[in-house]
Amino acid sequence: MNIVVVGQGFVGTTVGAGFAEKGNSVTAVENDPERYNLLRQGILPFYEPELEQMVQKNMAEGRLRIVQNTADGIKDPDLEVILLAVGTPPKEDGRPDLKYMEIAAREIAKSLDHHVVIAEKSTVPIRTGEWLKKVLGEHIKCDFDIAACPEFLRESTAVHDFFNPDRIVIGTETEQAYETLRRLYRSIGDNVNILPRMAVGDAEMTKHASNMRLYLELAVTYLMSQTGDALGFNCERVLNAMGMDKRIGPYFKKPGPGAGGFCLRKDLEALISICKDAGVDTGLFEQIIKIDDSQRRYVVDKVEKMLGGDLNGKRVGVLGLSFKKDTSDVRYSPAIEIIQMLQRKGAKIIAYDPKAMNEAKRVLLDVEYCTDAYEVARQSEAIAVLTEWDEFTNLNKMRIRQGTHRIIDARNIFDPAIMKQLGFEYDSLGRPMKSYAA
Ligand code: UDX
Repeated sequence: MNIVVVGQGFVGTTVGAGFAEKGNSVTAVENDPERYNLLRQGILPFYEPELEQMVQKNMAEGRLRIVQNTADGIKDPDLEVILLAVGTPPKEDGRPDLKYMEIAAREIAKSLDHHVVIAEKSTVPIRTGEWLKKVLGEHIKCDFDIAACPEFLRESTAVHDFFNPDRIVIGTETEQAYETLRRLYRSIGDNVNILPRMAVGDAEMTKHASNMRLYLELAVTYLMSQTGDALGFNCERVLNAMGMDKRIGPYFKKPGPGAGGFCLRKDLEALISICKDAGVDTGLFEQIIKIDDSQRRYVVDKVEKMLGGDLNGKRVGVLGLSFKKDTSDVRYSPAIEIIQMLQRKGAKIIAYDPKAMNEAKRVLLDVEYCTDAYEVARQSEAIAVLTEWDEFTNLNKMRIRQGTHRIIDARNIFDPAIMKQLGFEYDSLGRPMKSYAA
């Protein structure tokens, strides 16, 4: 099947290369000159396991073509589907900015000369479909269908998630458009769970609702870690036992320094603004964001406490800058915000991350970057582990100990009993020593 994917960010690149891998003929559009130049050489502007190889393979085998202009992408007379995967960044008030969507729609409208299905892939507020139809309709010369096929894949496991989706959600106005998209998704595999047709707005809302629910789960986990410390229980054991209730589930139960990534916060803020406009009580949604913020401050408090209550002039080492392991993405990364909070309290930051240092350099000021974790340890009075990279889990702790003996482990990657034995002053999330030893 011939498709165009407009926008080669993280979602667009994965989806384009993924459909190409399954035998479809994919034209991927990237407007940004710098990103386009990298992509056409098969180089990704970000780190995502396995994705670069998949892009290169499909380009070499002729199923994936990178172009800079939308018009070039849609000339193909056999084109059946256009997937819109352009960015929807937040505006100051939390509402999503649809300007890239609008630019893409206008470019498509100018050049399209036969019927295709135009589907939203980016997370967009409910009713964007109606707006999109209007923008397209103002200039378009031919018939078209609009649709919403939200993408649920995670960064760091995007390739795996694309080929193994829990479900495929397709919202369309017509049966014909649904059948076209169903055919496209069937190419991923015979067992893929494609849900029956729903309205475009239902599909848009499914994405928002799913992200909100995941974020809520994280808020509960973070709150349990704070409560574990305060009341003296082991939050990991509690969360694990709690997750065995099938109605609750085992996912999103790992305490951390806060939720990062471009989707959860941005989408929830968008949902809040949409619901507020409609007069819906958004108290629960707003509380999720408050708990997430409190978790970031909670980690800063732990660092401050371990260093005697005053961070002014203290050298704090940071391991991990990306918002989770196996990605170079630092957008909404708790590590970045925690570093900025520590700096405001006068701390000097020494940092290392296996993949995200270039990205971090664009947003952080006055940070000393190191070539590995041991150098961070040598330069610091205490270390905060903020991302759970395997490289950190497998560190030689005695070599770290030669640098500093203070660790605040905001990913719970080390064993408190072992750290104590090795002579560390060690703190983690919701695992106070007395509960741990129990
Ligand atoms: C998320 C959703 O999972 C995905 O379905 C949606 O389409 C996009 O947003 P992603 O942004 O890649 O995906 O991140 P995710 O793996 O969900 O993690 C979000 C944040 O929660 C990360 O900062 C992560 O470290 C944190 N997290 C996750 C925890 O702190 N504990 C957990 O148990 C799981």
